[in-house]
Amino acid sequence: MGIFYNQQERVFRLDTPGSTYLINIVDEEGFLCHAYYGRRIPDDNMAYLLRLNPVGGPFKTSGQQASFLDQLPVEYSGHGLGDFRESCLRVETEEGYRSCGLTYLSHRIYGGKPALPGLPATFGGEGDCTTLELRCHDRYLDLEVCLLYTAFEKLDVICRSARIENRGEKPVTLTAALSACLDMDNRDFDLITLHGSWAYERMINRRPVAWGKQGVSSLRGISSHHEQPFLALAEHAATQDQGQVYAMHLVYSGNFLAQVEMTQQELLRAVIGIHPQDFAWKLDPGGSFQTPEAVLAYSHTGLDGMTHALHDLYRNHLIRGPWRDKPRPSLVNNWEATYFNFDTEKLLDIARTAAGRGVEMLVLDDGWFGCRDTDTNSLGDWFVNEKKLPGGLKYLADEINKLGMKFGLWVEPEMVCPDSELYRAHPDYALQIPGRPPMLSRTQLVLDFSRQEVRDCVYSQLHKVLSSANIEYIKWDMNRALTDVSSLCLDADRQGELFHRYVLGVYDLQERLLRDFPNLLLENCCSGGGRFDPGMLYYSPQIWTSDNTDAIDRLRIQEGTALIYPLSTMGAHVAACPSHTNGRVTPFDTRGLVSLPGCFGYELDLTKLTEEELDMIPGQLENYRKYGPVFHDGDYYRLASYGGNGEYDALMAVTKDKRTAVIDYVHVMSRRRRRSVLLPLRGLDGETRYRSSETGEVRSGAGWMYGGLLLPEMKGDFTGKLIVLEAV
Ligand code: GLA
Repeated sequence: MGIFYNQQERVFRLDTPGSTYLINIVDEEGFLCHAYYGRRIPDDNMAYLLRLNPVGGPFKTSGQQASFLDQLPVEYSGHGLGDFRESCLRVETEEGYRSCGLTYLSHRIYGGKPALPGLPATFGGEGDCTTLELRCHDRYLDLEVCLLYTAFEKLDVICRSARIENRGEKPVTLTAALSACLDMDNRDFDLITLHGSWAYERMINRRPVAWGKQGVSSLRGISSHHEQPFLALAEHAATQDQGQVYAMHLVYSGNFLAQVEMTQQELLRAVIGIHPQDFAWKLDPGGSFQTPEAVLAYSHTGLDGMTHALHDLYRNHLIRGPWRDKPRPSLVNNWEATYFNFDTEKLLDIARTAAGRGVEMLVLDDGWFGCRDTDTNSLGDWFVNEKKLPGGLKYLADEINKLGMKFGLWVEPEMVCPDSELYRAHPDYALQIPGRPPMLSRTQLVLDFSRQEVRDCVYSQLHKVLSSANIEYIKWDMNRALTDVSSLCLDADRQGELFHRYVLGVYDLQERLLRDFPNLLLENCCSGGGRFDPGMLYYSPQIWTSDNTDAIDRLRIQEGTALIYPLSTMGAHVAACPSHTNGRVTPFDTRGLVSLPGCFGYELDLTKLTEEELDMIPGQLENYRKYGPVFHDGDYYRLASYGGNGEYDALMAVTKDKRTAVIDYVHVMSRRRRRSVLLPLRGLDGETRYRSSETGEVRSGAGWMYGGLLLPEMKGDFTGKLIVLEAV
């Protein structure tokens, strides 16, 4: 078991293979203090780090209680009582009084990990992890908080969340309920976040931590293209494979705050959770509120250690279902091939071309339902347009199955267009503020997914569609942010719950879908990568990474994504040229190389390819079959970043048994060099000898790593190579 309580010292100790996390109960008041988190140590008590003395004397009699609380590293901060840093928990009583502070009540330690009702969360059995439930309370409010900590046995990961319970007789309103707080000394930290925009998601942003508050957030109702619910504190000197890194990642798909604050004496507070703005949750007597889960990862081996911990956690303890460990089918998606302009014959043409080359699935994207020929109508009308698709989805799916391919379908269940049968019948189903015309985006409104009858109505349509034909894959899209966030069905004092209730509604519907169609492969999407978060991964093992399908832009998008997400989660397709995103022309095989590490597919009109390009497809699919599992299940290493050097890009994956390594190299901008570029490798076994597919040379793993690989000389821009090292 990785969690212990030292009764004498009043210390909780959470151990993972490489990290230790210590919680001290302090003073007769029973403050829950955060004494230490970092590299694994044998000592049980590190209370000296709390600096309990400078404010003078015991808490009660010092006359300095407020200053004491403002410097105390705590586990879960309250407010209004002297801790003036960011509050994890903010409470307002019926009378309008605002303050709260938590002290120790009791605890329980057990093997395994409980599920979080209604929320996605990591999971693990008794042999995988140990959980601490730390009960604390505000004795003046009859409010109890259960802080949940799970330490993983084989990963340097601790997962945290909080459950807040009203044990009193009057309602209270939570105006902040974050998931985790991490107080510690600044160690010359940089803050790393993933910034972006539509079609340019998850750019790595690293800067020194400064005084005051800095961080990232979303108030869009989705985790967003713009920021990721993630932050890392990395020692300024930390590199890919050296130095300490602390990461926080939220398993949630709605509004969030991920923030670090440097206050007096260089004390840091990092917090993560649901954004307190636009949040208020009324807790009736006996009611409870469960926060989403925060993942904490610690590495003393630089960014690699953090990346590997998160990749392994998500692959083994978050993603579920039969597709988790199976090779994902290669696919062709018709969106960039035809947009709305298709019919059964056109789709079958594409399918025949694809099947002849070995592609495994055809995905029919937007435009198959209602009378949708543009993006201005019909969302909400989930019945097939027989004018475009005579014989319906059944005929199409059967014909595609006859070609030996699977059939998949696009839907956007959370939306409604004003021009739709659904909206005409139920205008009240959309989020709206009475008396204010709702804001359109892509000519659509957001359905009020907090309402059961709205979800039921959409679900019964989806259920019918999925039962009508052999549909083995669903791309669940979501193409706008939330505005006019009011529900016609919530009381005034509960409108602040709506953003969160909406997210819970989305989770509920995806859970139902998977329960009723357990073999379905679900791919989430949100105008590309606008809701690429761990919450969504609980339902779909893969997510469409970005609407930007240009191979060169994709290098940076996929690099940022892979910093925290396994390659097996990233939808990556070979798209048409000139690129529909930016007009760039890249060779077909380079597009293949860039897509290869992800969930591989094509997103272009295969019938328009040249013979030469078509002939490359079987080779690309063979590479995907052979090396897809190395990328998807192995350890990932970022070797060179085009974003950093402006010249070339390289990533590497090594199987867990270290017998095979694949290096995916893209030569982006050509430069005349007289000496070939040296690329130090990582992750190999030093003693094992490996043969290069490129040169046939055999040398030790140590040689390849510390000497390095000489990159093949290449002429021209946008070229690349796949280099395989096999153990001999
Ligand atoms: C979003 C998705 C695209 C495509 C279109 C269809 O933008 O990200 O891949 O499905 O919607 O309208």
